[in-house]
Amino acid sequence: VRMRAPIWGLLLALTVLLEMAVAFAPVPRITWEHGEVGLLQFHEPGTFNYSALLMSEDEDTLYVGAREAVFAVNALNVSEKQHEVYWKVSEDKKAKCAEKGKSKQTECLNYIRVLQPLSATSLYVCGTNAFQPTCDHLNLTSFKFLGKNEDGKGRCPFDPAHSYTSVMVGGELYSGTSYNFLGSEPIISRNSSHSPLRTEYAIPWLNEPSFVFADVIQKSLDSTEGEDDRVYFFFTEVSVEYEFVFKLMIPRVARVCKGDQGGLRTLQKKWTSFLKARLICSRPDSGLVFNILQDVFVLRAPGLKEPVFYALFTPQLNNVGLSAVCAYALTSVEAVFARGKYMQSATVEQSHTKWVRYNGPVPTPRPGACIDSEARAANYTSSLNLPDKTLQFVKDHPLMDDSVTPIGNRPRLIKKGVNYTQIVVDRTQVLDGTFYDVMFISTDQGALHKAVILGNEVHVVEETQLFQDSEPVQTLLLSSKKGRRFVYAGSNSGVVQSPLAFCGKHSSCEDCVLARDPYCAWNPATMACITLYQAEGPSRGWIQEMSGDTSSCPDKSKESFRKHFFKHGGTAELKCFQNSNLARVVWKFQNGLLKAESPKYGLVGRKHLLIFNLSEGDSGVYQCLSEERVRNKTVSQLLAKHVLEMKVVPQTPMLPTLLAVHTEGSRITSKVPVAFTQGSSSPTPILQATSPRGITPSPKYSSTGTSREPKIVINTFPQLHSKTVYLKSSDNRLLMSLFLFIFVLFLCLFSYNCYKGYLPGQCLKFRSALLLGKKKPKSEFSDLEQSVKETLVEPGSFSQQNGEQPKPALDTGYETEQDTITSKVPTDREDSQRIDELSARDKPFDVKCELKFADSDADGD
Ligand SMILES: *[C@@H]1O[C@H](CO)[C@@H](O)[C@H](O)[C@H]1NC(C)=O
Ligand SMILES: *[C@@H]1O[C@H](CO)[C@@H](O)[C@H](O)[C@H]1NC(C)=O
Ligand SMILES: *[C@@H]1O[C@H](CO)[C@@H](O)[C@H](O)[C@H]1NC(C)=O
Ligand SMILES: *[C@@H]1O[C@H](CO)[C@@H](O)[C@H](O)[C@H]1NC(C)=O
Ligand SMILES: *[C@@H]1O[C@H](CO)[C@@H](O)[C@H](O)[C@H]1NC(C)=O
Ligand SMILES: *[C@@H]1O[C@H](CO)[C@@H](O)[C@H](O)[C@H]1NC(C)=O
Ligand SMILES: *[C@@H]1O[C@H](CO)[C@@H](O)[C@H](O)[C@H]1NC(C)=O
Ligand SMILES: *[C@@H]1O[C@H](CO)[C@@H](O)[C@H](O)[C@H]1NC(C)=O
Repeated sequence: VRMRAPIWGLLLALTVLLEMAVAFAPVPRITWEHGEVGLLQFHEPGTFNYSALLMSEDEDTLYVGAREAVFAVNALNVSEKQHEVYWKVSEDKKAKCAEKGKSKQTECLNYIRVLQPLSATSLYVCGTNAFQPTCDHLNLTSFKFLGKNEDGKGRCPFDPAHSYTSVMVGGELYSGTSYNFLGSEPIISRNSSHSPLRTEYAIPWLNEPSFVFADVIQKSLDSTEGEDDRVYFFFTEVSVEYEFVFKLMIPRVARVCKGDQGGLRTLQKKWTSFLKARLICSRPDSGLVFNILQDVFVLRAPGLKEPVFYALFTPQLNNVGLSAVCAYALTSVEAVFARGKYMQSATVEQSHTKWVRYNGPVPTPRPGACIDSEARAANYTSSLNLPDKTLQFVKDHPLMDDSVTPIGNRPRLIKKGVNYTQIVVDRTQVLDGTFYDVMFISTDQGALHKAVILGNEVHVVEETQLFQDSEPVQTLLLSSKKGRRFVYAGSNSGVVQSPLAFCGKHSSCEDCVLARDPYCAWNPATMACITLYQAEGPSRGWIQEMSGDTSSCPDKSKESFRKHFFKHGGTAELKCFQNSNLARVVWKFQNGLLKAESPKYGLVGRKHLLIFNLSEGDSGVYQCLSEERVRNKTVSQLLAKHVLEMKVVPQTPMLPTLLAVHTEGSRITSKVPVAFTQGSSSPTPILQATSPRGITPSPKYSSTGTSREPKIVINTFPQLHSKTVYLKSSDNRLLMSLFLFIFVLFLCLFSYNCYKGYLPGQCLKFRSALLLGKKKPKSEFSDLEQSVKETLVEPGSFSQQNGEQPKPALDTGYETEQDTITSKVPTDREDSQRIDELSARDKPFDVKCELKFADSDADGD
């Protein structure tokens, strides 16, 4: 019965996965597109597969292993290449490789798979080398290979597609990979000149493993037990203990001792300390089981009692994109190896074997244990003099029956809709002294998620698109040097360097606090959201609330607003900016909530407000508020305030139409109803809705030069020009006259033919049709007005007539801008980006000056 339970658990997991998956979707609060934030990149033209990253001891240089090349780049700016060395496959080797049926262009190349520190002045580098794995030493002083040409079998895979992992411990390389051309012989080995060791080639030891990670845990210095350093390997392998209809994968942790010398007779040159156990990462209540390991990170921190293994998982059947993070305490892993029960294979019926818990006597010293003071006291000073009984036992029982359970017995994080690939974790202290483990997790689409556990809730602070293309991130590296913290990511196309936080992007105290980013705090003195690990000096007065409580933020005393004037019957667009994916924007009018369902209002991009058919009753104060759910409450903040006022324009026949007005300096354009005085060629803007936040002219975007004169730039919608309207109406008149002329001609001909008797039968029918047809022509004026009204609501319909536009009809004071900004509704992304670019120069809501310009211009006409 004991054995059956997990099987059913797994079965359940695989079948109900789809249904259960719906529940887990912590949304990243902010999404940063590539190029929106300051990322530095390294890419050498013609070089691909940047799969190995290594930080130098002093953390000043980042070593990058790619296909056929190793680079040294500046760790502070990866765009600055310092050294490069190429390691290409010779032509005859390539030819030999191709003979074996491998691709000359892709597989028969040298993929760098091992990049480890060997000494202060050299690196240990191994590459697949056209299916002839080879290792060499890289002299860091000259940045040249020494040409050692060591056989890399067992340290580096033959096939670039095969899994591998390695760690350098005391000048000896510990590695897990495959040992042969086909990749069918898995091996965990140590390349050591005095005591090379490897795993037994047997299914109970390794069964089609996929290696993920390896690292060493040093013995604790204060321990009295005379322990040894231990090396941990993480991999997923095919289950031997559970039977299933298909190959069931099991995530494992295996451990070997650094002091292991192998056995004297039994297990000669093999590990005597190799034990492995199953890692559990599941939600028992939901039946979700994550059994494919993607990556592991060892979190060590001064404040942490013991290292913690953060492991990234996906389920075996992952068609919905589901990932989980489980954390394991080192002691719980060690406890399984030190005190857990072993598993053993039993032959049931004829040749059918089954793995069951071993309940018999266990020989002493305990099989698989590292040599400690107790063993030494019993005269077992080395694995070489361990008794045969112990060695035979560990050879037959490398698998533990007990499993390693995660901290808290459940995943730290479950995320739907992404396939996570790599993880690094940083432990950081916030201003109130609390420590947070910040998880940086990359996706198979080139993005990076930053997640933190707040209470019992997962908060994904932000999502950053590291790579332009949606390619998997293959390696992540975290730098820890004080004051200069970065995360580095490698992919097939290059290396990207990203800061740990983008605090400067939060322009208000509320925004800074609501981000709930452990690296960010608001400094009221400088009115800036600062990055804590870069900040110097006393932190007194800084505001950081991981609860998202914004009440300690200073009042926006000098709250400013934007005033707009409008014309009866027009449409206004009021802007509002918010980049949080967790927030909802609500609009208030004279302190009452606006109902978006009302046909009078519309929302653009879920935030900007459109008001149609403006009338007197619409004048007043409009406020844009964002409501963000933070834990169990909703935090509301005022984002923008607009005041609408009716403007009486004593002008005769008017033709309301929709204009896109671009006030100088403001990149944000708005649609504005404009009244044209017929016959006049200068339009009069009646209502101007512009950005809610103060924006000063950016030289980059200023299309009207450096003139201080207020200007309105009109974009190239043909209807926007009064002349267009005029031309259109005169065109219509011309057409109408033409039509009438032809009609009369036709009438004459018809009458003539009727009269002549050429069309005797049809004469009556045509006569009646003729009378009806004469009723058709209507006032072209009302027709036109009707069509304009329709287009007010539908900005997309403007562009189609661009071709008919003969030439820009407007002169001084107006400029046509052959730009695309207003030919489409600006996306939210563009808006927020512009705000970011410009807000550095000006404080939010400081807009009076610009308003005056716009208004005075309107008056001037
Ligand atoms: C190497 O990079 C190329 C180009 O992106 C990609 O097509 C290929 O699959 C990569 N190969 C490996 C083994 O990662
Ligand atoms: C990084 O280096 C590149 C290349 O030298 C340079 O163009 C860029 O300005 C540097 N960026 C920073 C932030 O130092
Ligand atoms: C590494 O290169 C430097 C400079 O060329 C040289 O002096 C040194 O001897 C080299 N080291 C080894 C181990 O070859
Ligand atoms: C690895 O083993 C080779 C012999 O197979 C030996 O020449 C080399 O020195 C070893 N490297 C290390 C780092 O121990
Ligand atoms: C995750 O990967 C699986 C295959 O490995 C794929 O079917 C699925 O579409 C991916 N999901 C996402 C969200 O990328
Ligand atoms: C250990 O070996 C020493 C000498 O080789 C011997 O004197 C001692 O009795 C042994 N101790 C045990 C516990 O066997
Ligand atoms: C515009 O509003 C007025 C009242 O202010 C109303 O009479 C008229 O029908 C509205 N027009 C449209 C098209 O909704
Ligand atoms: C929200 O949760 C906190 C503790 O997490 C609790 O003290 C508070 O009463 C809760 N508030 C509401 C409105 O449920």
